[in-house]
Amino acid sequence: MINELINKLHEKTAVIGIVGLGYVGLPLAIRYAEVGYKVIGLDIDLNKIENIERGTTYIKHIPGAAIQAATEKGFEATTNFTQAIEADALILCVPTPLDDHREPDLSFVIDTLESLLPRMRKGQVVSLESTTYPGTTEEELKPRIENIGLTVGEDIFLVYSPEREDPGNPDFTTRTIPKVCGGTTLDCIQAGVALYEQVIDQVVPVSSTQAAEMTKLLENIHRAVNIGLVNEMKMVADKMGIDIHEVIDAAATKPFGFVPYHPGPGLGGHCIPIDPLYLTWKAREYGINTRFIELAGEVNSFMPEYVIGKVTEGLNRHKKSINGSRILVLGIAYKKNVDDMRESPSVEIMSQLQGLGAEVNYSDSDVPVFPAMRSYKFDLQSIDLSADTLEQYDCVVLATDHDVFDYELIRRHAKLIVDTRGRYRAPAENILKA
Ligand SMILES: NC(=O)c1ccc[n+]([C@@H]2O[C@H](COP(=O)([O-])OP(=O)(O)OC[C@H]3O[C@@H](n4cnc5c(N)ncnc54)[C@H](O)[C@@H]3O)[C@@H](O)[C@H]2O)c1
Repeated sequence: MINELINKLHEKTAVIGIVGLGYVGLPLAIRYAEVGYKVIGLDIDLNKIENIERGTTYIKHIPGAAIQAATEKGFEATTNFTQAIEADALILCVPTPLDDHREPDLSFVIDTLESLLPRMRKGQVVSLESTTYPGTTEEELKPRIENIGLTVGEDIFLVYSPEREDPGNPDFTTRTIPKVCGGTTLDCIQAGVALYEQVIDQVVPVSSTQAAEMTKLLENIHRAVNIGLVNEMKMVADKMGIDIHEVIDAAATKPFGFVPYHPGPGLGGHCIPIDPLYLTWKAREYGINTRFIELAGEVNSFMPEYVIGKVTEGLNRHKKSINGSRILVLGIAYKKNVDDMRESPSVEIMSQLQGLGAEVNYSDSDVPVFPAMRSYKFDLQSIDLSADTLEQYDCVVLATDHDVFDYELIRRHAKLIVDTRGRYRAPAENILKA
């Protein structure tokens, strides 16, 4: 069984099923198509399927031409899950958010698996890529698959292989980012390595799915904790009249033992603010308090409030209050040069400013209309930046430093700039670092 699967993968006659065609699934589908596999993309979002059929994109950094090239080479997308039966590999790339109590919400993973179970058969490899706590694959996926009469490790091969993505970073592609892969049994690991080594330069096998799940969490917790540390250092440096960005640049000249992290207005994105809490939740089952995670979360989630404090301070210098001021937030995506607004601290800042009585607007050309969000509602459209518009605002908050902004124009025409990203290094009357 395993040899037949591996041969099909090596010969590229295997059909690859990718479930969830978002930031993670779409580039992977394109990559498999690029090297010559037939790829079936499955998603419940009809809009994505229609975009793929038209060859148009719905993710800024993935060009429509790449989708078109993939469809010409055999990538088809559908909402029809019966097609999963054709797939020799099923790769799950669906969301793993938090629920209302900020605890893991595995409902997307479980729903997806439930839709796939009637189409699972002997000789398939099933890979979960969604970020999750150690034990998910063995505790949630394996028993459900075995319930339908397939033995994992003999009939069907189960692996966990976390996705590593840095949206907007042109230095890495799906092919060049090494991929960790753990399996339920040795045969599962072998199947997982065979699945991924066809499209990724370096596959890193680990001994279990739990080790692979924990690897992803370590990577993201490492970021969250270090960002928390540097945000704390920023507040200390600010009180001491020291520029934290100058300090980070200087420290980064150390050729060993130091990795630069940059402070900002708070954590954003689908991963760093959320993933650590997956471990916190699971660790409780073992009687462990994840204190570093909690502390970093406390510091990082205070950052929007810190920025509000700086806005208050800046306006105060002009004998103004937030209440009644016109404030323009620059950049509402969670990081520069992307259009992803998930968990963006910019939105929390907008919400707090509005709550304090400010008239708030935003500028972000990649988000022309403020989208529907679960916890926030703004009836706004992106403002085009010009000397005239900038001069109409009492304060401009630089929340996300997209490259498309004309920083010189902003510097010359904004009455007050609260810079949360260290974009403006030279001190100026109208600039306040936050
Ligand atoms: N975005 C990143 O940079 C990144 C990086 C590493 C890991 N991850 C992890 O990868 C996973 C997916 O993240 P993403 O950013 O691609 O999410 P996404 O929201 O961009 O895409 C998920 C897709 O899954 C689809 N979906 C939801 N339920 C489904 C179901 N039952 N059946 C089929 N499709 C379904 C959605 O319609 C959506 O298109 C998450 O666990 C995330 O934490 C994301």
